[in-house]
Amino acid sequence: MGLLDYDARAATAFVAGRHLDEDGLAAWRARIRHHLPLGERAVLLDLGAGTGHWMAAFRRWYPFTVIGVEPSPAMREAAAEPLLTGDAAAIPLAANSVDAVWLSTVVHHIPDRSAAAAESRRVLRPGGRVLIRSAFAGRLERISLFRYFPEAATALDPRYPSAASIAADFGTAGFRTIALEPVPQVTAPTLGGFVEHLDRVAHTPLMLIDDAAYERGLARLRAADPAQPVVDALDLLVLRACTGPPWVA
Ligand SMILES: C[S@@+](CC[C@H](N)C(=O)[O-])C[C@H]1O[C@@H](n2cnc3c(N)ncnc32)[C@H](O)[C@@H]1O
Repeated sequence: MGLLDYDARAATAFVAGRHLDEDGLAAWRARIRHHLPLGERAVLLDLGAGTGHWMAAFRRWYPFTVIGVEPSPAMREAAAEPLLTGDAAAIPLAANSVDAVWLSTVVHHIPDRSAAAAESRRVLRPGGRVLIRSAFAGRLERISLFRYFPEAATALDPRYPSAASIAADFGTAGFRTIALEPVPQVTAPTLGGFVEHLDRVAHTPLMLIDDAAYERGLARLRAADPAQPVVDALDLLVLRACTGPPWVA
């Protein structure tokens, strides 16, 4: 198991508190389109698709085929559309069958990242890309949650991978790093609405702190201006599958 058990309670909290609306995703849409200029015959794998939130976004944005793979039965059950059973180290797809692999807030849950990199390389066609959306150790300053819950940043840093360690794991499997960039999102139109829907079960960093630290963070949130928007930036790490030894791009 990874850092969090994605059971039915977590799945419900995730649907209620972690889905972003189309306006909030505008910058992500633009950066993904930049890195994935794919046509209608392409296939994208959403690996660790959760409740299918990003699959729905990709379907709105692109004409291509989107396949979701998700290990948690509860997350699959809560998803609006069918997802395949599998995980990053055992992807239930044929070799050379996809053009892009999308991993959104998943990498910190993967116990064997070398296996995940090798599996991603196996299913990707040469030249295909892995796009990783994540908070990375040492790069948390643009995520507002950590301003209110500073203990979560302290707890998270040794538990989450750095972008460099992910790039190294994927590099060993034949990927070259193309980009690492922060991408902003409107996590919630107002802080008041964010607090109303906040459930720590849906946020791995908030499960890494004790109850007293969580209560202190809630108090900080409730003391802040409820009308302000919650704007965060997570990182986008883009890797390209090279064609073969010696990994010529
Ligand atoms: C924070 S949720 C993100 C869900 C979705 N990608 C999103 O951004 O909306 C993390 C997801 O990773 C999944 N997960 C955990 N371990 C995994 C693994 N080894 N391989 C693939 N997915 C995994 C969990 O079941 C959960 O659905």
